[in-house]
Amino acid sequence: MERRSDWYTHPKYYEAIFGTDTEKEMDFLLAVNERLGTGGSLLLEPACGAGRLVEEAARRGMKVVGYDISEPMLEHARRRLKPAWRRRVRLFQSRMESFSAPEVQGQVDLAFNLVSTFRYLDSEKAARDHLESTRRLLKPEGLYVLGFHLTEYTRDTFERERWVGRVGRDTVICNTREGLPDRRLRRSPMRNRLRIRGPGKDMLVETDWFFRTYDLAQARRLFRSAGLRVRAMYDFDYRLDSPVGRGSNRLDRIFVLQPAG
Ligand SMILES: C[S@@+](CC[C@H](N)C(=O)[O-])C[C@H]1O[C@@H](n2cnc3c(N)ncnc32)[C@H](O)[C@@H]1O
Repeated sequence: MERRSDWYTHPKYYEAIFGTDTEKEMDFLLAVNERLGTGGSLLLEPACGAGRLVEEAARRGMKVVGYDISEPMLEHARRRLKPAWRRRVRLFQSRMESFSAPEVQGQVDLAFNLVSTFRYLDSEKAARDHLESTRRLLKPEGLYVLGFHLTEYTRDTFERERWVGRVGRDTVICNTREGLPDRRLRRSPMRNRLRIRGPGKDMLVETDWFFRTYDLAQARRLFRSAGLRVRAMYDFDYRLDSPVGRGSNRLDRIFVLQPAG
C-alpha cells in the first residue's frame, strides 16, 4: 500500500467526499444573501480549496473572489472553471490570516467559509485578524457566513465520522477523528484518513493537525471583538426556515455575521 500525507494535495479525492452538498450549500448561501444581506452579486470565499463552491456560484452568474493557501487545490479550482465562468472569478494564493484585496475593499456582498475551515486559524489573534480583514472587505450591510463545529469541553470520547465516495473506478473511504479537546490550549487533535482503492491502486493519505476550539461564548466574544454581530444562527442542515435558537445544543453551527456598524 502506498502511503502519503496531506489530503489537500489530493483535491479530487477530497471532493469525492466533500463535494456532495455543494448545491444545497449554495442554495442556502444565496437565500441568506437575499433575505438577510444585500442580495448583491459579489462573493468572497476565504480558503476556497478546490473551488467546488466558487464554481457553483460562478455557474449561477455570481462574481467570486476566492483564495487558498494550497496551490494544488487552487490549480484544481482553476482547471474546473469553464471559460464563460472564468471571467467572473478571481483566485489568489493567500492565507486567511493576511488576505487583503484593496480593489474589492468595502464591496463584497457575501463572504462564506463553511466546513470548519475557520478552525485552522490557530490563535485568537489569527482568528481576529482574519475576521477584521474580512469585515473590511464587506459592504456595510454585507454578510460573512461562517460554519464550524463548536466544542463541548466536557466531552470524554473521540468524535468519529466516516464517508464513502467514488472517483471514476476508485472508491474513497474517509475517516476523520477529533480527539479530546484541551480547554487550556484551546485545541483538539484531528486525524483524517483517506483510503483510495481501485484497479492497481491502494493508497492511504493520512493527515494530522490541530483545530482551534470554541464554545458558544468564546465564539460570540471573538466576533464582537472583531466588530461583527451575529444576525442569525443555523446548523449544517442548511434550512433557512429553521434557525438555531440560543438554547440549542447542536454543535454544528452556521453563524451569519454582519459588520456591527
Ligand atoms: C476543508 S477545506 C475547505 C475548502 C472549501 N472551502 C470547501 O468548502 O470545499 C479547507 C481548506 O483550507 C485551506 N487552508 C487551511 N489553512 C489555511 C489558511 N491559514 N489560509 C488559507 N487557506 C487555508 C486548505 O488548503 C483547504 O483548501
